[in-house]
Amino acid sequence: MKLLEPYKTDKLDLKNRVIMSPMTRNRSDNSNHLATDMMAEYYRQRATAGLIISEGINISPTSIGYAFVPGIWTSPQTTSWKKVTSAVHQEGGLIYAQLWHCGRISHPDLLNGSLPLGPSAINANFWSYTQNGFQDTVTPKAMTIEDINETIEDFAVAASNAIEAGFDGIELHCANGYLFHQFFAKCANQREDNYGGTVENRARFLFEVLDAIQKRIPGIKIGIKLAPAFRGMFGIELDDDQTTLYEYVIHKLNEYNLAYVHIGGYGEAQDLQPIEVVLNNARRYRKFYHGTYIINRGFTRDTANQAILDGVADLVSFGELFIANPDLVRRFKESANLNVPDTETFYGGNEIGYLDYPTLK
Ligand SMILES: Cc1cc2nc3c(=O)[nH]c(=O)nc-3n(C[C@H](O)[C@H](O)[C@H](O)COP(=O)(O)O)c2cc1C
Repeated sequence: MKLLEPYKTDKLDLKNRVIMSPMTRNRSDNSNHLATDMMAEYYRQRATAGLIISEGINISPTSIGYAFVPGIWTSPQTTSWKKVTSAVHQEGGLIYAQLWHCGRISHPDLLNGSLPLGPSAINANFWSYTQNGFQDTVTPKAMTIEDINETIEDFAVAASNAIEAGFDGIELHCANGYLFHQFFAKCANQREDNYGGTVENRARFLFEVLDAIQKRIPGIKIGIKLAPAFRGMFGIELDDDQTTLYEYVIHKLNEYNLAYVHIGGYGEAQDLQPIEVVLNNARRYRKFYHGTYIINRGFTRDTANQAILDGVADLVSFGELFIANPDLVRRFKESANLNVPDTETFYGGNEIGYLDYPTLK
């Protein structure tokens, strides 16, 4: 089965094509944002994936958008990730760090009273999960050029910390309504300077972050997660030039010698879309990118294998199935039954619903 065969490029050397999609599980501590022993065990259990992409990891204090999420801007945080990366490496796995800035999807309760940052002062009219429970989002502070430059620098430092912590590469979270996506989308970005207006301007922040990271750490392996069809939640609506923007971004990414482009993340509003819709969206953009292409959302073993055979993608990432099946690759191999994910324990809590999903005997 193609899905279970190795995959090799100058950047990736994977034992199979089953990728663990990035998933926030809110099991860090809320004061220091460290990776914990429990998190190391969770990732160790899933190390038979061809590649693990970590949960979103915040890059700076201003990037936080949820309670109990980990960070990678301080030295103790960087050190705390070493136990995660070494647990995965001991099992023969690979792990990339997903770097995350939530932008306007945040709340002053998470930011020591400060306003969240956004491209423009436009409220997402969504919610944020804080240590005090769910709160409505507020109108963010429109980022100054200084804020933009500081954030670019924060990404470069976080990427460098990720490599120091032993991650095999990084993925930039440019999907699902967070900061990069907010720059892309007109509903969140009404700037009149070089970062707003035209497609090139709305994409500029991403490319400046990429330039800064590659300058800081030459040769670093980078993946980009995009959600070109995402809408209807996190305050993101369709733009009239949405496809033009993603065609431009994905085509320009060819210049960056990336490890991969990862197309995923429909919003919950599209949860019931048939797999054909997901595939058509992936096909639409594939022709603009010449490197490794990962696709996501709602795949099973057989639909994923077929997508690879049909040339829609090189690799497929799985989210919820990996939460419930640490030995997903083996289960695919043996056509075994799959455990069913318990949505109640997705976000926050303890080992229950995190470390205790059974593996095959
Ligand atoms: C509990 C949970 C947390 C998630 N957190 C993230 C995240 O931190 N970063 C991200 O890019 N996507 C996140 N996602 C989206 C998944 O990576 C994936 O795109 C989604 O689950 C669809 O794939 P699936 O149908 O195989 O589950 C999350 C999904 C779930 C279920």
